[in-house]
Amino acid sequence: MILVTGGAGFIGANFVLDWLASNDESVVNVDKLTYAGNLENLASLQGDARHVFVQADIGDSAVISALLQQHQPRVVINFAAESHVDRSIHGPEDFIQTNVVGTFRLLEAVRAYWNELEHEAKSSFRFLHVSTDEVYGTLSPTEPAFTEDHNYEPNSPYSASKAASDHLVRAWHHTYGLPVLTTNCSNNYGPLHFPEKLIPLMIVNALAGKPLPIYGDGMQVRDWLYVRDHCSAIRRVLEAGKLGETYNVGGWNEKANIDIVKTVCALLDELRPRGDGLSYAEQITYVTDRPGHDRRYAIDARKLERELGWKPAETFETGIRKTVQWYLDNPQWVQNVQSGSYRDWLQKQYAAKAST
Ligand code: NAD
Ligand code: DAU
Repeated sequence: MILVTGGAGFIGANFVLDWLASNDESVVNVDKLTYAGNLENLASLQGDARHVFVQADIGDSAVISALLQQHQPRVVINFAAESHVDRSIHGPEDFIQTNVVGTFRLLEAVRAYWNELEHEAKSSFRFLHVSTDEVYGTLSPTEPAFTEDHNYEPNSPYSASKAASDHLVRAWHHTYGLPVLTTNCSNNYGPLHFPEKLIPLMIVNALAGKPLPIYGDGMQVRDWLYVRDHCSAIRRVLEAGKLGETYNVGGWNEKANIDIVKTVCALLDELRPRGDGLSYAEQITYVTDRPGHDRRYAIDARKLERELGWKPAETFETGIRKTVQWYLDNPQWVQNVQSGSYRDWLQKQYAAKAST
């Protein structure tokens, strides 16, 4: 079986759903269930014996060690993190605790477990660390996209904490021989995305008749990848990645924020027109910029394509249409997230378990 951390969040949940849709290897899913963890994301796996959910902190060494002993995973994938840049600006402490201290403690627990494995299990074991392109800092409009050799120049508390975690993972390989792989991915979008991030926030605000807040001039550029393509890249790196290497993952979809928001508005105009006949773009509002806002990210994903044969399946046009449609089809998920009632799910879930 495999063990994933952070599998109740956006990318982790998409990964677990994808994994169990395409093979029968069980998943132990360890998630602290912070505000970003939502067990409703995994509701379709209720009663599926291949999915074992455990509410725990990656920084809780005793619990993580016990889980590793109990389940004997052949792989650990670390998705768990505090992931929102704006939150890291308002309160960096949680980012240091989870992304730095938590990753350190997880690495130590995994190292102790791995050291005790028998020869074959030891040599085939993998620890895959899921990271971000933000560790590379920002690009001017004309600079080439980030390769794996780009200097680390993180600019936000979030990206600095992720950069620190990448360095720890690297060091645990070089010093202790832990068989690690690291992926650095660009901006994901798709189903189950928490509506604090740009694309889901714009969809839910548009439908609610609220302003669509664009930071600064809206000309910051991000490189967008449909979340299921990120999941397929992680699976591929797990299968064939070279130990100790890092792989950049991206969609070759550089877009300015304002163009993303206009695209979302145009899709909503088509799929769920406003009652007054006006475009959702009328709701666009320019607001004060994010402090230290990185101007441009762009991923050069050629290494992953050349060495492991991975390519994204979705274009931005197909992926964004699916995403907008998913939010239109799942108003209850949105409502539960917005009202906070998704956090009752755990209680409901375990109350139901206790009574059977
Ligand atoms: P998310 O915020 O949606 O989910 C994070 C999950 O981790 C949540 O379920 C949360 O409960 C859990 N978690 C947080 N702290 C924990 C702890 N101490 N112990 C156990 N679980 C904990 O994040 P996401 O967007 O799904 O990102 C997943 C990973 O991918 C992160 O490591 C992030 O840095 C990385 N990443 C994200 C993107 C993106 O665009 N979203 C892009 C590249 C890389
Ligand atoms: O690049 C990968 C990273 O992408 C991940 O590592 C992070 O976990 C993930 O959150 C994301 O970071 P960003 O800061 O790029 O994502 P966010 O959705 O917060 O913002 C995208 C862009 O949109 C960014 O330039 C800020 C801008 N923005 C965002 C929000 C929430 C706005 O203009 N208005 C908004 O309301």
